[in-house]
Amino acid sequence: MRIAVTGGAGYIGSHTCVELLGAGHEILILDNFANAERDVPDQIAAIAGQGVEVAEVDLVDKPALARALEGFCPEAAVHFAGLKAVGEAVEKPLDYYRVNVAGSLNLLDEMTRIGCERLVFSSSATVYGAPEQVPIPESHPLAPTNPYGQTKMMVERIIEDLGRARPDFSAVSLRYFNPVGAHPSGRIGEAPRGVPNNLMPFIADVAAGMRPEMKVHGNDWDTPDGTGIRDYIHVMDLAAAHLAAIEVTGEGPGVQAINVGSGRGHSVMEMIRAFEAASGRPVPYTVSDRRPGDIATSLADPTLAASRLNWRATRDLATMCADAWNWRSGRSG
Ligand code: WQD
Repeated sequence: MRIAVTGGAGYIGSHTCVELLGAGHEILILDNFANAERDVPDQIAAIAGQGVEVAEVDLVDKPALARALEGFCPEAAVHFAGLKAVGEAVEKPLDYYRVNVAGSLNLLDEMTRIGCERLVFSSSATVYGAPEQVPIPESHPLAPTNPYGQTKMMVERIIEDLGRARPDFSAVSLRYFNPVGAHPSGRIGEAPRGVPNNLMPFIADVAAGMRPEMKVHGNDWDTPDGTGIRDYIHVMDLAAAHLAAIEVTGEGPGVQAINVGSGRGHSVMEMIRAFEAASGRPVPYTVSDRRPGDIATSLADPTLAASRLNWRATRDLATMCADAWNWRSGRSG
């Protein structure tokens, strides 16, 4: 199929493009490269052994978006493009509503206009907010605690309403837990601009000697070792979930949200130890105060992904760390 991938030069998007190409799909990457290296499409092509079409487009530029889509005539779309830093969203909420919500509205408008009615949307477990129960099922109330999570919940709701209005529309919103790792080739991976917000890229920077130490945000959480527990998943497992979701959108109309996590958790200290083992490098740390809005434990209930997508996370923590280190150690700086 012809599949338009917005944000396809980004971290999750690039790995998903590799999976889609490997499954024989033809893709068009739509990206404004605001948070993606310009050589990523070439790296994707080198891994997949085939070229990819690229349109440098910002989803808030609706005429440019329309031209790119009309030229490619996609049969489906995978929508990653958006801003995703929680702290930045608190400081600049209007940017997040403009890019994540208005940009998604433009995409849905143009898809509807050209008759492209199959969508996989990049959502996030952040829509759950502070969980009332763990593991978290898809039926858990949505209560995002920051503007980034609000935008993800709003776009999920917009997609649901579009599904009620358009009898042939089919969509899956994937609620990611904590994606980490990189393609084993070391050609693509997570390349955050500036100071990494997330744990794994920060640990990798410390192991690479780029940062002297990391801060463990609290060791007095209600967890076995006192540090935060999260449901980490290898980005290649996450990419495979998108391929499965695209197939499901071809089975008939309807909209559903599905967790993408393993159901297994690891603490910050376990991540540090695992990364030291994988890299052979020390990861010095000091314990700091908790981050505002942080939670002790977040784990997915992966039952629906297994039953509806026939998908499970397959790669273990050692592989996540080894692939993350292979990527990070191959980069300069
Ligand atoms: C993981 C654990 C921290 C950094 C975020 C977003 C979420 C999603 C995934 C987009 C926590 C601890 C972290 C550090 C630390 N992104 N930590 N020192 O907070 O679960 O989720 O990323 O969809 O929206 O909220 O991930 O990697 O930031 O933190 O101790 O320098 O590592 O306290 O326990 P999080 P994270």
